[in-house]
Amino acid sequence: MESQVGESGSVDVDGTRLEELTPEPLLTRDYETRPSLVYERLRQRHGAVAPVDLLGVPAWLVLGYREALEVLQDDDAWPKGLENWRARTAGEVPADWPLGPSLEVNHVLIQGGPGYPSLRTAWDAALKPFQDPGHPQAKRLKAAVTAYADDLITLVGQGGGTGVADLSAQFSRPLPLMVASHLLGFPGSQGDDALMDMWRVLDAGPDAEPALERLLATLAELAAVKLKEPGDDFPSYLLAAHPGLSLDELARELFMLLGMTSDHVGILMSNTVVEVISGDGGARASLSAGMIRETMNRVVMRKPPLVNFVPRFAAEDTPLGNYTIRAGDPVWVSSAAAHADPLFADHVAPSSTISTRAHLSWGAGRRQCPARELASTVAAVGVGRLFERFSHLDLALPADQLPWRSSPFMRGLRSLPVRYELASPPERTAPPQTAPDPAPETADVVLPDRSARQRSSLWRYLTGLIRSAR
Ligand code: HEM
Repeated sequence: MESQVGESGSVDVDGTRLEELTPEPLLTRDYETRPSLVYERLRQRHGAVAPVDLLGVPAWLVLGYREALEVLQDDDAWPKGLENWRARTAGEVPADWPLGPSLEVNHVLIQGGPGYPSLRTAWDAALKPFQDPGHPQAKRLKAAVTAYADDLITLVGQGGGTGVADLSAQFSRPLPLMVASHLLGFPGSQGDDALMDMWRVLDAGPDAEPALERLLATLAELAAVKLKEPGDDFPSYLLAAHPGLSLDELARELFMLLGMTSDHVGILMSNTVVEVISGDGGARASLSAGMIRETMNRVVMRKPPLVNFVPRFAAEDTPLGNYTIRAGDPVWVSSAAAHADPLFADHVAPSSTISTRAHLSWGAGRRQCPARELASTVAAVGVGRLFERFSHLDLALPADQLPWRSSPFMRGLRSLPVRYELASPPERTAPPQTAPDPAPETADVVLPDRSARQRSSLWRYLTGLIRSAR
């Protein structure tokens, strides 16, 4: 033990090396079913920072709120970039480590080093038109989200004016995928097959690997098209802001956008729906009071979609919590655990009408999420349309029995079974072509690719879900 002077006086710091601590596996069945218990056990045993085994590779997990902020806010002391990982440089990370494929893609979320700042600046610039409320591009995006949401709800309604649906598979997952396709500027509904592949990749089933290959090839093709003929879309804006990006690099960034948009926004929407249906009356009232964003803020605070962040690395030997983190050790910040830290949790009164913004669900410091406004808008519009178009929505399972899926990075609902009643007469007999025209401001966004979409693999899949829900 070494003695170090911390904020609260002198503390004993354990100088034992990470490799020698024989850390316990993090990704157990308990982590899948009751992650909060796992975090609390680790906190009791180790304090604010715990050694854990991530599928055979040792790492530090930051559980303390103050320590998480310390890491996130000091990018020089805790840089990202796998080149900083001592064990990886020494060849100690197995080539077939299951987390390798998601971390070895060198895009903006993972990257450190000299290339990062200009890439991040380009991301900020490329997202700006979509996030600046006064910009025509932001208005088009909002109109598109509304139209996509309405199309999906109409499709659910083809199962009957009342019925049972899985709002995860039939709404929260496809909607952000369609939005991603819009951001990426896929011509027509060509992107839909790529979206299905993204879905397969995220589900990590047996067809995930070929799906990933197809997806990367499609994104590389899209990148080449945008390089030749720039349009009003994210890839073209990113290229304009960072002309030095190679096709490969651009394709990687597009993959990152697709992954972040499709999984995390979907999780946020499903969690918000559950909160509105089963939370106290305040959540439902918040919809009519136009305070849906406040509800979402509570939701991400209690259930952050990104539960553990990709690793940072100690730039030099540094005391953190009760341990010394050696230079090059990997450090994973857990927003889920930090939010349960009494230092944070005890200051968040559940009864307070306004929730705190001091949570870590969007990250902190200069690497925090650049797409927060975009993600919140998509989720708010989507949830808003649901509660407008359905006069009644109820969970088909008790809230505490809803099935969850977890990865080392995210946690979200596997399915969201609901009983619904449509507010207006269902359009089940109307073939897609004769469905009522969307509102004029949305028509130009949706109509050009509508009939093509009806033939796409995504739509065929969604139509199949209606039959099975009957
Ligand atoms: C509900 C949805 C989302 C949540 C909860 C979320 C959360 C986060 C968090 C916590 C980080 C910081 C991770 C870290 O520090 O290691 C982050 C980074 C990032 N997010 Fe998001 N995000 C969401 C949606 C999106 C979307 C839709 C996009 C793209 C359109 C996006 C793009 C990014 C990028 C590029 C970074 C890396 C920033 C950097 O390292 O400089 N996110 N996000």
